[in-house]
Amino acid sequence: MTPFYNPTLSYEENYQQGPFGLFASADKPVIPVTKPTSFLGYQVNTPFGIPAGPLLNANFARAAFAYGYDICVYKTVRTVEHKSHPLPNVLAIHPEGKLSAQLDTVLADNHYSQPLSITNSFGVPSYKPEIWQADMARAVQATGKGQILIGSFQGTQGLGSIEDDYALAARLVAETKAHALEANMSCPNEGAHHLLCFDFDKVERIVHAMKNAVPDLPLLIKLAYFSDEQSLTNLLKKIGHLVDGFSTINTLSARPVNAQGQPALSANRPEGGVCGDAIRWAGLDMVQRLASLRARMELKFAIVGVGGVNQPQHFKQYLSAGADAVMSATGAMWHPNLALEIKQNYPTGAL
Ligand SMILES: Cc1cc2nc3c(=O)[nH]c(=O)nc-3n(C[C@H](O)[C@H](O)[C@H](O)COP(=O)(O)O)c2cc1C
Repeated sequence: MTPFYNPTLSYEENYQQGPFGLFASADKPVIPVTKPTSFLGYQVNTPFGIPAGPLLNANFARAAFAYGYDICVYKTVRTVEHKSHPLPNVLAIHPEGKLSAQLDTVLADNHYSQPLSITNSFGVPSYKPEIWQADMARAVQATGKGQILIGSFQGTQGLGSIEDDYALAARLVAETKAHALEANMSCPNEGAHHLLCFDFDKVERIVHAMKNAVPDLPLLIKLAYFSDEQSLTNLLKKIGHLVDGFSTINTLSARPVNAQGQPALSANRPEGGVCGDAIRWAGLDMVQRLASLRARMELKFAIVGVGGVNQPQHFKQYLSAGADAVMSATGAMWHPNLALEIKQNYPTGAL
């Protein structure tokens, strides 16, 4: 199946020319009617969608809504323009068995075979706020009944305080009338312990700043995989009562290499985030642990399960693990009919 994001083209070319394949076709599918589910205070047709990343702009989001993805996240934006890494940004990877969370070395190439896992390496590009705000507002207008658009954003280091920059980004996203906010805290290089979400004190300060800036919109935090139970508990003690939900996981880091054993992305990008089939175990594990901690700590946050969803039964697995909503990036990119198949298999949206 032709993916709706073309890995052989640059981020900018995808932004200007995409989406591709089925998402570009003029014929739109007939969407089965489903029983709505409550999510973050909204009634959504089916609690399924596409997480931050593959939906680069309103053209991508409009196509995703037309194909029945009822919760769509607009790719992470910043308060300042930021260039994408050069090509390659996406490569297929071929782990032997299950990918671990310990920075595995994995073969990467252009052979996209199912079940598919990929590495993605963009550096979180962003256009200027004037550009993405107008476009995100168009994406919000593309929602149909029972659909919502979530705006993903992150702060940028070196612009003053990171708390203020996250708060400003939250305010700029809110101005687009997005239905909810998602703060990406799982991107490398913004926190003391490599990923911002592992720097709990900073996370707490940023959450307070965002809630002060935009008190009325639901706020999700995008988390990486936590292998350590105590760390996850400590994070929830700090912010579990302040935020409206967690979206997890982002990617598992690995070292993608070519057939000669050289870094496959480039010499100065030896590591890349891995997503797709190989990380489903980690997404399910995080969701299960968050759900049991939520019950034990008597918290109320929503859980968005992400990672390796490429078949309808994976949607069901995530809901059984305790997710309130489920999303697919890699799976949906190569299989745009996934939301339709989920609606056909699970018409009530629940188990
Ligand atoms: C092409 C691509 C771009 C992505 N960009 C972002 C991003 O900008 N912000 C973010 O929080 N996650 C980003 N992600 C990570 C996804 O949101 C998701 O967490 C991850 O891909 C795991 O889901 P999957 O296994 O269904 O792909 C991106 C993923 C892909 C495939």
